[in-house]
Amino acid sequence: MATTQPAVRTGEELQELAKRHLWLHFARMGSYANNDMPIIVRGEGCHVWDEKGNKYFDGLSALFCVNIGHGRADVAQAGADQAKELGFFTNWTYAHPPSIELAARIAALAPGDLNRVFFTSGGSEAVESALKLARQYHKLTGHPNKTKVIAREIAYHGTTLGALSATGITNLREPFEPLTPGGCHVPNTNLYRLPEHMDPMDLAEAVAHRIEFEGPDTVAAVIMEPVQNAGGCFTPPEGYFQRIREICDHYNVLMISDEVICSWGRLGENFGAEKYNYQPDMITTAKGITSAYAPMGALIASDRVAEPFLEGHNSFLHGITFGGHPMAAAVAMANLDVFEDENLLDNVRTNEPLLRGMLESMKDIPIVGDIRGAGYFMALEMVKDQETKETFNGEECEELLRSFLSPELYKRGLICRADDRGDPVIQLSPPLIAGPDDFAEIHGVLRPILEEAADRMKVAGV
Ligand SMILES: Cc1ncc(COP(=O)(O)O)c(C=O)c1O
Repeated sequence: MATTQPAVRTGEELQELAKRHLWLHFARMGSYANNDMPIIVRGEGCHVWDEKGNKYFDGLSALFCVNIGHGRADVAQAGADQAKELGFFTNWTYAHPPSIELAARIAALAPGDLNRVFFTSGGSEAVESALKLARQYHKLTGHPNKTKVIAREIAYHGTTLGALSATGITNLREPFEPLTPGGCHVPNTNLYRLPEHMDPMDLAEAVAHRIEFEGPDTVAAVIMEPVQNAGGCFTPPEGYFQRIREICDHYNVLMISDEVICSWGRLGENFGAEKYNYQPDMITTAKGITSAYAPMGALIASDRVAEPFLEGHNSFLHGITFGGHPMAAAVAMANLDVFEDENLLDNVRTNEPLLRGMLESMKDIPIVGDIRGAGYFMALEMVKDQETKETFNGEECEELLRSFLSPELYKRGLICRADDRGDPVIQLSPPLIAGPDDFAEIHGVLRPILEEAADRMKVAGV
């Protein structure tokens, strides 16, 4: 059993200090003037508790991170044990055993010749590193003008300025423009809303078209998630990634699989590229690599991409002080032990149909439009009309998601994501230890809320 330190401060004191001093990420801070902040103080398995003692089902693994579940003090202990030996040394021109062992373990698990691991502190830095590596790789191999990156609309690839230029969410980009030049976007694989005249594989051809349009000599990389998170778990059509691979090879463009969410069991495999059977030149990962018991990310590069950097005086002119932090690396090793010892990938593969089935069972509620996703990474899209798939306008989304669903889900004990970066969706991404009882608990909260949402938005059945 995990233990937590007894709270030194009362809930009210925590609220007061938080409201005065803490800046929450992506949060409308003004909304906390008259409302309490959600303050999570403890976690165990699939559940967390707030400062008032309320219990929640963590249907989002605390932002797609806590894959092994909460309260695994044994995993954190691996970091403490490592600290007794070597609390910190950098990978900036030095190596140390924990990052060596972890790099070798990741290389053994990663598909094909993805054998070289560059550690970072998180996902945005992993993406930033991949984009910089792509640029420098092309400069070293005689293609200095290859600098652009092709990503997909509505995709989220992180917030640092380079990664943000790949992120395809207009309102996240606008406040920070001009961004790093070179970010280009193509349609995502929203198959639910695929225009009637289009074949799903046209979505892959759009990448070739864009490379031609930009000029093949100017394009360095394509970056895509195996299942696109933002917009609501867009899965690829059959053969999509194989065609993207061919296009990348044809134009000498590097293929980056952004698996900050989709690796480490989220889709039932160690890597999303394995799930869809393609071979990228680089994988970016973070979150589940340590199940968030320590902050860590990584860029995994193929031997081919690493090769020019191993010659003569060449070096990847990029570094991050905490990349490969020994305590984080030790935690990652312990986390991967849990994956193996407790067969977490099998648990996801076995129970995925039950999670999907639980969501599908709510299709009788008139507001439920589409259910999609893979593994323990699912979205439920809400519509005004199941037949026509008519969606909600901006004002209605505000009402549906922010005035009703988000606060109500939380009040009734379910942490999940109610999001409208594309069309409005509820996303679920539970810890990989979850099973049928947990799905029943999610269903118990979700069904009545969706029924009420349909009433509130005046969505009637057909
Ligand atoms: C696909 C993808 N890439 C990059 C990132 C950025 O990762 P981080 O928030 O760790 O910087 C995220 C974060 O959710 C992500 O989902």
